[in-house]
Amino acid sequence: MEIARIRVNEGRLRKDLEDLGKFGEEPDGGILRPALSDADLKARDWFKGRMRDAGLQVREDAVANIIGRLDPASGAGDEPCIATGSHIDAVLHGGKFDGAAGLCCSLEALRAIQESRLPAPCPLELIVFTDEEGGHYAGTFGSRAMFNLLVEDEIYKSRGAGRPFMAQSLQRMGKDPAQSGKAARSPSEFRAFLELHIEQGPVLDSLGIPIGVVEGIVAIDRHMIEVKGRAGHAGTTPMRLRDDALVKAAGIVTAVNRAVRSLGVDLVGTIGEMKVHPGAFNIIPGKVEMTLDLRSMKKSLVKTARGKIREILRSTRGARLETALSKAGSRMDRKVMELIEESCRQRGVRWKRMGSGAGHDAMSFPTQGIPTGMIFIPCKEGKSHCPEEAIRWEDAAVGAQILADTIVRIAFSTGAESASGKARAN
Ligand code: GLV
Ligand code: MN
Ligand code: MN
Repeated sequence: MEIARIRVNEGRLRKDLEDLGKFGEEPDGGILRPALSDADLKARDWFKGRMRDAGLQVREDAVANIIGRLDPASGAGDEPCIATGSHIDAVLHGGKFDGAAGLCCSLEALRAIQESRLPAPCPLELIVFTDEEGGHYAGTFGSRAMFNLLVEDEIYKSRGAGRPFMAQSLQRMGKDPAQSGKAARSPSEFRAFLELHIEQGPVLDSLGIPIGVVEGIVAIDRHMIEVKGRAGHAGTTPMRLRDDALVKAAGIVTAVNRAVRSLGVDLVGTIGEMKVHPGAFNIIPGKVEMTLDLRSMKKSLVKTARGKIREILRSTRGARLETALSKAGSRMDRKVMELIEESCRQRGVRWKRMGSGAGHDAMSFPTQGIPTGMIFIPCKEGKSHCPEEAIRWEDAAVGAQILADTIVRIAFSTGAESASGKARAN
């Protein structure tokens, strides 16, 4: 097998990344492309065209995941596939490479594999997952829908005022939300899953190392906090007679921050969104809605933090917490990690094993026992989820090359059905 024959094309990859970055582009260089917004829908259509140009058979499932497939000429189309993928949607005012880098590198990898004329012995898939960022509710929506991991009635739930429900967004695309269950697939359809992503942190960039081999992804808890007070006139209500929801919420924000810090450096917690109702100069806030995100490689720490935060809320009148999602951490497959490293070694590329503090659709696959791996590429100064997010084109090309090589290595390996098993909580 002559893997060295596979050659990705940096110029073609760069053009795709630049073109995709125009959908939802903002004047400061960032993008506004929430899941299933107009900008996202246009970007999805464009990407489907690029997939078709590359010879992929493209379909959309019941929850709008886009699935592009290459069946082998050999007639092994019923074999389990090796899938790659990531997401097109973005956080509000985010950057151009979170998700997009993984998709464009995957597409380039599949093009390069075809051009090498190495006969792939199994089907290959490229999947664009719907709403990875949680614009509707809790994130990694498309990959969770694929494996029946959605929270009950999730498509009918909203993250709070002004946010769309997934059911509405699907309807807007002409899909029947009641049929969402049809997106489910059997784990036996997959031989392995690989996701390339920007690191979203500073480690690779600061060390000058082009590839991160991900060992595991953090456990993530997402909660909605609601604090009720009493709305009233801001001019006529004496201070002593107020029940101001925002004042109570401010106390909660500070107490949560203190509680998370008290549990040490292996845990992070963020209240990242807050809506004040009704929201005006002259009205005492009657209600506040906030999101809370807790993460750690150690699931037990997330659990302890959750307990402490529940106590804080119990001591605040009118406060309550609803858990949107509790995701166990995931371990990447040992054999897949070794094949990524073998690909690096053969191309003379330096790599580093590392954990991921960011969540990814790659988390959903190990829960089904599907061997899963992630390849990180550096992003400049580690900036991500902000308009300054940037990469070097040559790093993207190296990532696409290692991805292509690894896909082929897995395809031809005999022992890739390994080792990860069900996600292990730690
Ligand atoms: C996704 O980017 C996440 O980590 O929340
Ligand atoms: Mn993100
Ligand atoms: Mn992402």
